[in-house]
Amino acid sequence: MESGQVVRFDSLVLHFYTYAGVVEALDGVNLYLKENEVLGVVGETGCGKSVTALALMGIVLPPGKIEGGQILLDYNGKQLNLLNQKQDFMRGIRGHEISMVFQEPRAYLNPVYNVEYQITEVIMVHRKQEFAKRVLDQLNEEYARRKENLLYEADPFLNRILKFNINVYKRMARNPNSRYVRFLSKVPIIRRFGKLLKKEVHKEVIGLLEDMQIADPERVAHMYPHELSGGMAQRMVIAMALACDPKVLICDEPTTNLDVTVQAQILELVSALKQRRKSSILYITHDLGVVAQLCDRVVVMYAGNAIEMADVNKIFAEPIHPYTQALLESIPGPGKPLKSIPGTVPSLINPIPGCRFHDRCRYAMDVCSEMKPQFVEVKKDHFAACFLYYSHDRRS
Ligand SMILES: Nc1ncnc2c1ncn2[C@@H]1O[C@H](COP(=O)(O)OP(=O)(O)OP(=O)(O)O)[C@@H](O)[C@H]1O
Ligand code: SF4
Ligand SMILES: [Mg+2]
Repeated sequence: MESGQVVRFDSLVLHFYTYAGVVEALDGVNLYLKENEVLGVVGETGCGKSVTALALMGIVLPPGKIEGGQILLDYNGKQLNLLNQKQDFMRGIRGHEISMVFQEPRAYLNPVYNVEYQITEVIMVHRKQEFAKRVLDQLNEEYARRKENLLYEADPFLNRILKFNINVYKRMARNPNSRYVRFLSKVPIIRRFGKLLKKEVHKEVIGLLEDMQIADPERVAHMYPHELSGGMAQRMVIAMALACDPKVLICDEPTTNLDVTVQAQILELVSALKQRRKSSILYITHDLGVVAQLCDRVVVMYAGNAIEMADVNKIFAEPIHPYTQALLESIPGPGKPLKSIPGTVPSLINPIPGCRFHDRCRYAMDVCSEMKPQFVEVKKDHFAACFLYYSHDRRS
């Protein structure tokens, strides 16, 4: 993995084994995500955008199976192939390292718990240790202050409680899931000490809701999913994804079904997050307007392949792959005749051989129906999978 890259897909192959046949959903996808950038993933419906995200999260469920390739993650300076990791380890990666805003926010929110409960749960799973340390620092400060102000002698009982608290939080900060901590959390009198932690987490939840530009966050925190508008539900899901402070955030069409004003607010939020948290964002959409507004680089997908990847300005000004060119020509505009790409996306069960775009491509050559084009760097940082940019001796 080159320096500055956070995630890298190398020839990822993913199949779904269905009764109707094998769906070849990803056919050797190559792409990379750099530090502190928004990478847009665009393409027609069914081209494999969401399954690419699910593969990165490590949540491809049967009948889906990853059949080849690797997904590398920069993990504390080391390169990890996520496909070789144990489920327990991946549970830790999901959330703290990689988090996802799913395509359907309402399906993701639990209808029987309020907003605060759901965000708190995420924080307690992934960041309990960090919050225990924060409380411990506060308690140590309080203890030192009491000693300095000679309050120590005045109230020995309070000192003892404070000391006990410090001990509990010291253990929690060392290992939040130890047997000792789990035992204490079940003893009713001692359970009260957990309130300090809850208070600290509550502050974080309200801070996250404020970041999401939610008016009156204290009230909204107590609302249930059915009481939220579409835009609010979408922001809750984004808040939950951010609660873990992820290094990589995946947004799967987070603004579909939202009106344009709410969509603009959410795009601003994502943009601000990139600036503030220095996160890397994989932003999936079929809306090229959103891509132009938000993304630094773009990868275009077609029928389970990444077919072009470049800087956003290059994609719009000088697209080199025939599919990207046709896609951009089909953007409607005032007074512009409507143009569509002839033909339809091929079935991914027994897909056509060679380049999967060859039956719709105006430049198709004989070789295009015989061999699959490789994804190569045509110009600096501009990649494409097309025989138009291949010298004959490089075909394989
Ligand atoms: N669980 C599944 N079982 C069988 N096939 C699946 C399953 N999930 C996805 N697929 C297939 O994988 C291919 C890629 O699906 P994916 O959901 O990634 O598309 P997409 O690009 O996200 O489309 P959209 O823009 O509509 O969300 C599709 O052909 C789809 O039918
Ligand atoms: S490889 Fe051939 S069919 Fe595919 S996009 Fe290029 S020219 Fe068209
Ligand atoms: Mg999708």
